[in-house]
Amino acid sequence: MLGQLEQLLGQLDELRARAIEELAPINASAALEEWDTRYLGRNRGELKNLSSVMPKLAKDERPVVGQKMNAVKTELERELATKREQLRQRELMLTLENERIDVTLPGRALPAGTMHPISRIILEVTQIFERMGFGIVQGPEVETDYYNFQALNIAEDHPARDMQDTFWVEPGQILLRTQTSPMQIRTMKQNQPPVRVVVPGKVYRNEAIDATHEAMFHQIEGLLVDEYCTMADLKGCLERFAHEMFGRDRRLRFRSSYFPFTEPSAEVDISCGLCGGKGCRSCKYSGWLEILGSGMVHPKVLREVGYDPTKYRGFAFGMGVERIAMLKYDVGEIRLFSGNDLRFLRQL
Ligand code: DAH
Repeated sequence: MLGQLEQLLGQLDELRARAIEELAPINASAALEEWDTRYLGRNRGELKNLSSVMPKLAKDERPVVGQKMNAVKTELERELATKREQLRQRELMLTLENERIDVTLPGRALPAGTMHPISRIILEVTQIFERMGFGIVQGPEVETDYYNFQALNIAEDHPARDMQDTFWVEPGQILLRTQTSPMQIRTMKQNQPPVRVVVPGKVYRNEAIDATHEAMFHQIEGLLVDEYCTMADLKGCLERFAHEMFGRDRRLRFRSSYFPFTEPSAEVDISCGLCGGKGCRSCKYSGWLEILGSGMVHPKVLREVGYDPTKYRGFAFGMGVERIAMLKYDVGEIRLFSGNDLRFLRQL
């Protein structure tokens, strides 16, 4: 029978061999920490367990066992450290692989916005008039009765008010402008002639909504006042606009009309672009499409803003932007412009 010493040394060899054999296949930190506790653990580790036999050994045997124990311990610790480092490297590689970014992939294109057709028409129209020397101004959408009606020769009981159903903010005093024409008054009151402006902006009408009417839409107002200004200038100016906007082949027709703030007044039609004036469904078989209202600034309006009507004359015009867009793009439904439906907007 072997002595206690030999038995212990044998156990140590066996422990060492088993520990190293078990260590080899370990490939996760959790398993490695388990291995550490099992063999090297300070409380119940196998090595620690064996050392508890020490006091039973003879005095001269203890250093032998002690040395062997230290050697095994050091070796296992070294193996543990090596394995830890291996696992750390491996886990790092895995994370790097998982979080890898392929910088050679083409970028994802963000959808680029484009200008709304109404904004584009406003830009096109105002640029045409800018080239003719007009300035661009904008004004308030909440107006007073004075600027929107009275100063434009539309008195309180004037039937023309019925044409423009009004959204009142303060009944009889403050309103959402029904037209851009109040900016004629504001511009003239703030400037001395010559005056040449176009005014794009939103207008509001308390109207039954249908394919050609909305409660909010856009207008562009035009105003020119100078010492010499005739209806021929108005016609030439609007003809140039129509040619640049719709094409040289289009003709204009001036139809006598009525607006309280112009005298004489004219509604302007453009020859139908689809049938060339012969008549088709688009122009209701008339060959003409109405594009704007216009006229020579009424002397009463000039007097109202402090201009001398014997010295100055002017012309004015106003067009609906949605209407121009509908004509230009041949769209029969005004609500499409405020609908924000990309299927529609992408076609224009
Ligand atoms: N303000 C008019 C409307 O909304 C349009 C208009 C007609 C404007 C004649 C003008 C003009 O400047 O001269 O119906």
